[in-house]
Amino acid sequence: MGATPADDGGARRVQPARFPLDDKRVYDAYVAGRQSAAMCVAVRAGLFDWLASEGAGASLEAVAARTGWSERGTRSMVSALCAMGLIVRGDDGLRVSADAAAYLTRGTPGSLWGLVDMEVDHFLSPRALMDALEKDDSSVYGEADPWEAHDEDPKRARAFTAAMHSVSERPAAGVAEFVDLGDVKSLLDVGGGSGALSIALCGANPALRATIFDIAAVEPLAREYIEDAGLSDRIGVEVGDMFGPPLPRGYDAVLYSQILHDWGFERGAELLARAFAALPPGGQVLLHEKLVEDDADAPLANALVHLDMLVWTEGQQYRLLELAELLTAAGFEGVERVRTAGYWSLVRARRPR
Ligand SMILES: C[S@@+](CC[C@H](N)C(=O)[O-])C[C@H]1O[C@@H](n2cnc3c(N)ncnc32)[C@H](O)[C@@H]1O
Repeated sequence: MGATPADDGGARRVQPARFPLDDKRVYDAYVAGRQSAAMCVAVRAGLFDWLASEGAGASLEAVAARTGWSERGTRSMVSALCAMGLIVRGDDGLRVSADAAAYLTRGTPGSLWGLVDMEVDHFLSPRALMDALEKDDSSVYGEADPWEAHDEDPKRARAFTAAMHSVSERPAAGVAEFVDLGDVKSLLDVGGGSGALSIALCGANPALRATIFDIAAVEPLAREYIEDAGLSDRIGVEVGDMFGPPLPRGYDAVLYSQILHDWGFERGAELLARAFAALPPGGQVLLHEKLVEDDADAPLANALVHLDMLVWTEGQQYRLLELAELLTAAGFEGVERVRTAGYWSLVRARRPR
């Protein structure tokens, strides 16, 4: 016989929960990957570019027609992107937000478009992270070495260099603004990629000349960026292997921007020894990185880049203490950190006179 309401007490009291009710820190971390996925897919679909131009004020139907997404998918994506503050929904239709217009549109100086677009093909999924943790070497292109893969496949080299340019263009402007290079007349930009750093530094220092030193696949790409910046007369490009023959001499400064973090500590030490050997007495080595603080695993954005390095490279993010130790061991002195733009720092030191 079934229980009657009277049998179970009728209005049985619900026991209060015996666990903390606020799971936001964990839930937000769990759900954060969806934000990244939605943003990357919208970038790849060209949604922000379109809403920033002829698509401004579009309806949901127009977005669906433009992207080829289903009606349900479009509603979901637009709602998510509005919640993220990347699209604004108004009486006059959908518009791109100021943040998305500045940082997610193609060709906008300082935009992260290239970086976010590349993520569609190389999303750091839990599975990719598990594989990388097991392999403990670059796994982004399977077994292939990433730099050899770029030399063999110009499309990969182009996509990677565009991504790096979009990561580096804005912080490069920060270095140009906050780092006094008054006594540097010539700069060797090792692994210089698109030349983002040299372009900003030569732009801000009219007497400065620079050479991008990179692998063969990157040479024509660097020349394109330099030509677009109108600096071909002051920035050259040289093909070479930073671990091959000694680095070229005759420069007042050697720059490694996002290079040390591609390699383990031993190879980092080797790169610094190579810079030391190439520099004249008084010459400077410049390290441009997103540092993790010495006394905390912070900021979060920089600590998370450890994971990108795990998947893409043999390296990791650095702390100032670690860089200072490597620089001193290589013979440099006067280690100085300059906080530049956003999460970025420039660490510099000199070869003794
Ligand atoms: C992480 S990217 C940094 C690009 C640039 N410095 C920046 O901050 O935007 C690394 C660069 O190092 C270059 N590279 C990798 N191995 C190299 C090698 N053995 N010799 C010279 N360049 C190399 C890559 O082609 C790529 O352009």
